[in-house]
Amino acid sequence: MKFWLAPLEGVSDCAFRTLCYQYGADLTFTEMIRVDSLVRKNKSTLALLDLKNDTPTGIQLLAVKPEMLKQFVKKFPFYGIDPVCFNLNLGCPSPDVIIQGGGAALVKRTKRVAELVTILKKLGYPVSLKIRLGLNVQEKEHKVYLNLIRDVDADAFIIHARHARQKSSEGADWTIFPECLDTGKHIVANGDITERKDIEYFKKIGIKEVMIGRAAIRNPSVFQYLKSKEKVSLEVLKKEYNLLANKYPSSAKYKKNVLSYMGKDMHSQKWLM
Ligand SMILES: Cc1cc2nc3c(=O)[nH]c(=O)nc-3n(C[C@H](O)[C@H](O)[C@H](O)COP(=O)(O)O)c2cc1C
Repeated sequence: MKFWLAPLEGVSDCAFRTLCYQYGADLTFTEMIRVDSLVRKNKSTLALLDLKNDTPTGIQLLAVKPEMLKQFVKKFPFYGIDPVCFNLNLGCPSPDVIIQGGGAALVKRTKRVAELVTILKKLGYPVSLKIRLGLNVQEKEHKVYLNLIRDVDADAFIIHARHARQKSSEGADWTIFPECLDTGKHIVANGDITERKDIEYFKKIGIKEVMIGRAAIRNPSVFQYLKSKEKVSLEVLKKEYNLLANKYPSSAKYKKNVLSYMGKDMHSQKWLM
């Protein structure tokens, strides 16, 4: 089993990704980066492309308009960074993103997504999609996510097993995974994975990679725990994180967020209502 650190807005900067990598994450992701803002050269957005060391990192992009993504593809070689892969966000539940047809609203827009994947693949990196089960319960029941998985030629499908209207208290619906695996596509499981028994379950049904979000915020050594070692104390983790945050500085909010969220159960208003 391989373990991926989830894209985490306000949390997964270079220092946090590096800490998780040191504690067993096999692959990490930047937080969602808006392609429109990159193309407009927004300074704080460009700063999110913080691949400052050899931590294996994928770049998560929020893209809706093919034209914008084409412009990004042209500019990318000038950024001087070399990610492991790209990921497109098809899960953001924010109304300002949904209203433009982006984030979780893209799950049913198979043709548009296929077009975006084709454009991004021109850079020569693997391209995965991080999806929800649709915008709402109706879309989930119509299994819009299955059409997308079948029809789009992406290198992996990371499935956060909730629709975009679900609260974290409702629990992710892992029963959808066997049917997703039946498509023969590369499926990565996400949502509420915290324990070794969860990993045993996913191994049993044929999942080879899982993505971990809030459990890593609570304790970044969760990756080595899930790989059968013990977790490390918060005191040690905070010390190590501080050193990394000084070595790979980013906006002050990351340090504040990471240090205050560690050890706690986190419920993000935006990402998990
Ligand atoms: C603080 C926070 C920030 C998040 N930021 C992003 C993001 O930038 N992109 C994204 O696709 N998902 C984001 N998510 C969702 C997570 O990547 C993940 O799909 C979700 O938390 C479920 O996994 P978990 O149960 O392991 O936390 C965020 C979640 C949280 C709690």
